[in-house]
Amino acid sequence: MLADTDSANHGVCDFAKDVSADLPLLTLADVMGVPAPDRWLMFDWANRVIGWQDPDYRVSAAFDPSGATELGRAAYALRPSPGADGLMPDPRTREGMPDLYAYAHALGTLRREQPGEDVMSILMSQRDDAGGSVSVAEFENLFWLFAVAGNETTRNGMPGGLLGLLGSPQAQEALRARPDGIPNAVEEMLRWWTPVMTFRRTATCEVELSGVTLQRGDKVVVSFAAANRDPEVFADPDVFDIERASARRHLAFGAGPHVCLGAFLARSMMTTMFTQLLGRTTWLEAAGEPVWLQSNFQRGVKRLPITWRM
Ligand code: HEM
Repeated sequence: MLADTDSANHGVCDFAKDVSADLPLLTLADVMGVPAPDRWLMFDWANRVIGWQDPDYRVSAAFDPSGATELGRAAYALRPSPGADGLMPDPRTREGMPDLYAYAHALGTLRREQPGEDVMSILMSQRDDAGGSVSVAEFENLFWLFAVAGNETTRNGMPGGLLGLLGSPQAQEALRARPDGIPNAVEEMLRWWTPVMTFRRTATCEVELSGVTLQRGDKVVVSFAAANRDPEVFADPDVFDIERASARRHLAFGAGPHVCLGAFLARSMMTTMFTQLLGRTTWLEAAGEPVWLQSNFQRGVKRLPITWRM
């Protein structure tokens, strides 16, 4: 955490890159059985997919293959290069992510032969009543989903939450005095920041929504960000309030059949991060302008310079 210190208990760092980026990577590597030295591959993959509209993230190359496993180096060798227009092949296609799919295939095959303690190994060893099991092809798609959905989201949720605390010093003090208030503060961070701003749906039949008739096949964009600032549900919705009793009514994890599979893991990562951050510091303040992710999907923070005092 100590990017730049001028004394043992005082310094400046980029909270987004130096602090909050690695926790979701380490956690996901654990869940998915990815050897830790390969975890920053997932940083680049998630950036390329989620940040495809962002000039920096769409060509993200933070991963250093020198310390990687053989699996990691083999996948890295397949990393596509930007074209003459500076763009990478479309990362939302299989062809656009040959390195990710090669890694997922190799890991899936390995975990089938040598299962570990991780969630993915457990998944791969399951047999249904007909003796069927998760195929390596299914594993590859699940790997894509987790490497992307479980990473960028939490990585943007934490600096977003910190921006709420930087904007309200009394909230920082209150949570240092009463850390048991942190879980509700995390709900308020998710409501106020809403890392995943929108998702799209397709109407499967004619339906009326708030007086608007949708036809079968119509595309509908759901705005979780708007829902989380709905004044009919949240009083003073633009105010960041760690005591907000209704905070947990937020839709930051969606709702219905596609509600977030990692919601509890995300809550536990954010609660742990802020418990440690506020517990180890006596003061946090902004040390420059944040740098935003260019995206109409994710409310992302690429850089968040802060001053900390222990
Ligand atoms: C702050 C962190 C996170 C936020 C804000 C978030 C948000 C969301 C949202 C809004 C959806 C629903 C999308 C929809 O309605 O279609 C979703 C789905 C999903 N999330 Fe998360 N997520 C977070 C963390 C995670 C983590 C840590 C994991 C995994 C380890 C994860 C795995 C998934 C998966 C697999 C789905 C797809 C569920 C389905 O389609 O059935 N997410 N997430």
